[in-house]
Amino acid sequence: MHNLQEAVPLPEELAETASRAVARALALEGYGDAAEVSLVFVDDERIRELNRDYRGVDRATDVLAFPMHEEEPGSAPGEGPVLLLGDIVISLPTAARQAEACGHGLPYEVAYLAVHGALHLLGYDHKDEQEYARMRGKEKEILALLGLEAFEGEDELLEAARRAMENAYAPYSGIRVGAAVRTASGAVFTGCNVENASYGLTLCAERAAVAAAVAAGHRDVVAIAVVSDAEKVHSPCGACRQTLHEFNPDMLVIHTNPAGTHRYRLRELLPAAFSLR
Ligand code: THU
Repeated sequence: MHNLQEAVPLPEELAETASRAVARALALEGYGDAAEVSLVFVDDERIRELNRDYRGVDRATDVLAFPMHEEEPGSAPGEGPVLLLGDIVISLPTAARQAEACGHGLPYEVAYLAVHGALHLLGYDHKDEQEYARMRGKEKEILALLGLEAFEGEDELLEAARRAMENAYAPYSGIRVGAAVRTASGAVFTGCNVENASYGLTLCAERAAVAAAVAAGHRDVVAIAVVSDAEKVHSPCGACRQTLHEFNPDMLVIHTNPAGTHRYRLRELLPAAFSLR
């Protein structure tokens, strides 16, 4: 995790959004709670000074990242847990102007800048087209996981899951679930929950969708959308997570119901999964 130091007053919601954005970037890049990033919000004048003093560029900018990579004292270089990755400095007035110019909200802009800064600290850059594409892809992924940007094809996948949910056979629980998986080729396969009077035989929607994909010769699942009409938030059960893991630990998982929408990488939902590979 990381500290949030405010050099300019910052609404709590924005601070929280920025923290979540950085935490998600660190988690997805394999840094758990051990790594810290300091996040500072400043005004244009201060970021201009920093830009001038550290980069020789005498103008205000939106975000600066200062890598530090401090490891646990006493550990061999590159061996110990990383304690401090560095500092991210964001100009709040510049963020506000950019949000206005781009027509998206300030929370989106602040999250974007926080993610951009965090990725710099994690070694990403944009000096050439290849580096830029890699960094941009990662930014989009993290913003999607934060629910601030849609996954590619997300609406279509959710709609397919919704349609499958209509066919759910759930006379015992009364909870209807639909799932749709997308494979690397863009093909979509769906499933719904199928209950049984012998309760333990119940099949979940996610596993039904994966079985449909595999039966059609598709194993390269890249994303799954799960829709249910349950009143409480329901994420995929443990058995389904393990089944999904078999086909791609990095797949995107979006689940939605009237209580809310959540987005994950599968490996976030099933860390340290059982695997024979
Ligand atoms: N269910 C799913 O379809 N997927 C899950 O990941 C969790 C649970 C179904 C099974 C059962 O028909 C109903 O939801 C209530 O448990």
